[in-house]
Amino acid sequence: MPKLHPTLTAELQLSDGRKFSLPVYQSNLGYDAIGVESLQKEKLFTYDQGLTSTALCESSITYIDGDQGILLHRGYPIDELALRKSYLDVAYLLLNGELPNTEELDAFKKEISSHYMVNEQFTRLFQGFRRDSHPMAVMCAASSALAAFYHDILEDSQKSRDKTAIRLLAKMPTLAAMCYKYSIGRPFMYPQNNLSYAGNFLYMMFATPCEPYVVNPVLERAMDRIFTLHADHEQNASTSSVRSVASSGPNPFACIAAGIASLWGPAHGGANEACIKMLEEIGTVDRIPEFIARAKDKNDPFRLMGFGHRVYKNYDPRAKVMRETCHEVLKELGVTTPLLEVAMELERIALSDPYFIERKLYPNVDFYSGIILQAIGIPTSMFTVIFALARTVGWIANWKEMCEESLKIVRPRQIYTGYTERHIDK
Ligand code: CMC
Repeated sequence: MPKLHPTLTAELQLSDGRKFSLPVYQSNLGYDAIGVESLQKEKLFTYDQGLTSTALCESSITYIDGDQGILLHRGYPIDELALRKSYLDVAYLLLNGELPNTEELDAFKKEISSHYMVNEQFTRLFQGFRRDSHPMAVMCAASSALAAFYHDILEDSQKSRDKTAIRLLAKMPTLAAMCYKYSIGRPFMYPQNNLSYAGNFLYMMFATPCEPYVVNPVLERAMDRIFTLHADHEQNASTSSVRSVASSGPNPFACIAAGIASLWGPAHGGANEACIKMLEEIGTVDRIPEFIARAKDKNDPFRLMGFGHRVYKNYDPRAKVMRETCHEVLKELGVTTPLLEVAMELERIALSDPYFIERKLYPNVDFYSGIILQAIGIPTSMFTVIFALARTVGWIANWKEMCEESLKIVRPRQIYTGYTERHIDK
């Protein structure tokens, strides 16, 4: 049941004299919210295109202060988590509310690794796709196919929800790596329970049955950090899609497929792929001014990918850690990529340009993640799949939180602008 209690009242007065008293709910951190539920009884809707001023739910998982550039998971700052904890620590934190102690983490790891494998039937699902299918299309299908294998999770119990969370966390890396192996026509590699979560993912992506594969610890840490920095981000488009779909009570794997579909778009998770394509298109530092000019031109749909954020009007705190990791990986691999040179110069120019300063357009997490992933050897088309894999825990934490409250089906209304009633001519 909702825990919110109104602390203040807002008085709404329309120019025709109608007056309403509305409750104001207080947040622990951040903006308070005016409760408008009663307005529909007064034959009024609220209109908020893009839901920029709407709190979809109450949640105790993640907090973002976009003006200050702060991201907290269960109260812990993202940079502390990314630099001092592993993805599985953070996953445990998001799902259970507290960081695990050593025994709890060991048990969590063990349980996850015992669910890494997917049903062998999945190999046939993959065979139904063209090899050149976009891996996000395959990932959407594969995640919703999981719903066909697990009917027991429809049971409404804590135990069943925890099991679903474990299965999803365990199987997403396996499915993601299968998407990649299928696209290049290589055999699927079975998961290795003795490796870390990130190490196992790298193994399934890059090992072959022909020769031994040793996980590089720097790349393993970078992968783990990418997972951590993408783990959750409050009520973004994909998470609110998962909540909306879940509100009608379908199988949770189908809800996650909805999150994956929403994430695919270039304005959301597809930005890391779009960012690399943009850097490649720019190609050399001397062409940057041309692209900056295009980004500012209102008649040109071009935008600087990896810049700007709906919520952050300050430096994205995830981008800071990602920037450091990016340099670490490139140093380890001895890679000097022209893309990085273009990226650094683009960042410098954009951060000193009045257009970007006035609009508070800073580099976001996707500006650097693509460069790291490319250096690791992951193809561009897989970038959003990796984002989806990492974000699954955020989606499932939100799904669990939602199931634990008794929420209504999400059913927004509209301002109708079509014809008034009319009839077919005789
Ligand atoms: N390049 C150039 N101009 C931009 C950009 C950009 N990347 N982003 C916003 N603007 C301008 C926009 O034209 C508008 O200008 P004006 O006020 O003169 O009309 C102003 O900034 C505000 O833009 P908006 O579209 O109202 O902002 P929004 O909050 O709706 O959009 C965004 C947020 C992320 C969709 C947008 O900044 C964007 O398209 N960025 C590029 C795509 C990207 O990097 N997305 C990844 C987001 S982070 C990962 C994630 O969480 O999914």
